[in-house]
Amino acid sequence: MMQESHSSSSAIQERNISTLKKDKETDESVEEKDDFKSDIRLKIDGLSQVVATHYNKLEEKGLKERNMSRIVYMRNFNNWIKSIFLSKFIGQIREESADDIKIIALDMCCGKGGDLMKWQKANIRHLICADIAETSISQCKERYEHLKKRGRIFSAEFVVADCTKTKLKQHLEVPEKKLDIVSCQFAFHYCFESLSQAETMIRNVSDVLRKGGYFIATIPDANKILICKKYDLELVYNKSFEELYEIGVKDRENRSLLFRMKALEMYPAVHGSNLSSSNEEEYCHVGEDSKERNTSSVKTMSKSEWEAICKFIYGICIQKSNMMTTSELARSTSRTNDISLLFSSIS
Ligand SMILES: C[S@@+](CC[C@H](N)C(=O)[O-])C[C@H]1O[C@@H](n2cnc3c(N)ncnc32)[C@H](O)[C@@H]1O
Repeated sequence: MMQESHSSSSAIQERNISTLKKDKETDESVEEKDDFKSDIRLKIDGLSQVVATHYNKLEEKGLKERNMSRIVYMRNFNNWIKSIFLSKFIGQIREESADDIKIIALDMCCGKGGDLMKWQKANIRHLICADIAETSISQCKERYEHLKKRGRIFSAEFVVADCTKTKLKQHLEVPEKKLDIVSCQFAFHYCFESLSQAETMIRNVSDVLRKGGYFIATIPDANKILICKKYDLELVYNKSFEELYEIGVKDRENRSLLFRMKALEMYPAVHGSNLSSSNEEEYCHVGEDSKERNTSSVKTMSKSEWEAICKFIYGICIQKSNMMTTSELARSTSRTNDISLLFSSIS
């Protein structure tokens, strides 16, 4: 039912792009009414525009070129963390559900679709990919079509939207459908430009999640996050990448994935290749490691990269409360009252 044809998806994409433009036009007409607000809004719109333009301009690089990047190991390591993080919560959803659950997910700020294969491996049923950058969404869609030709994959829809300003739900194929999981990887910080953008992003998450559903994100310094109880969301998991690494690497399968994904570099460098850093100081920890293991070469990461990723980036999970909201409670109480009235009139 969720499977979409190529043309319907293009039409949806065009509709989304035009809605985005309409949203902006509406915003602009409001701006004219209030000079002060208009000043602030223009600055904010400007920043979103800068972000979108930046990501729209990034060229899609082939695997060969990506592997030549100086930060290739750091990128691969981040991908490894994302893989184990995603599969942890997908596993949790399956464990918590009685039947063979058909998972519906949202990849918020999905970029070019770098996580499509992770979703495929997680065997989900349907994925919504949303991002502010049109070009990224087109490339994400191309990647998806490519994967689809190669094997069984979830159905998908693609949305171009500013998740910090637009009501995302309105852009979905089935707006009333509740999702099991929302993931926002390396992008949640974009909503902290203003309080209203942070609220819109969080409200978007809350709007689409079912009760008990999960929102997972990787963000810098989760200790500073204040989660709005107002949106029935509660922080249930918060670990630095260092902790996630230590937990993940204990599992044999994860460890083998770490090597398959080439998330660490060989020290000393293999003949003919370069280390990420030419500064030997960056690898001073290796001496002790290799002595301990009685080996001359080890897989590792430079000190600066380790600090940048492992100490300052966090994986968090926020759960949509299972409790009834105040309005739901009021509705259910009035229904109970209706029923008791009915009974008393019958008896
Ligand atoms: C660092 S990339 C991460 C991409 C992807 N999540 C990943 O992990 O590979 C950040 C992404 O966030 C998107 N983004 C930034 N601000 C956004 C916004 N307000 N609404 C939607 N997407 C946004 C950018 O276009 C970009 O694709």
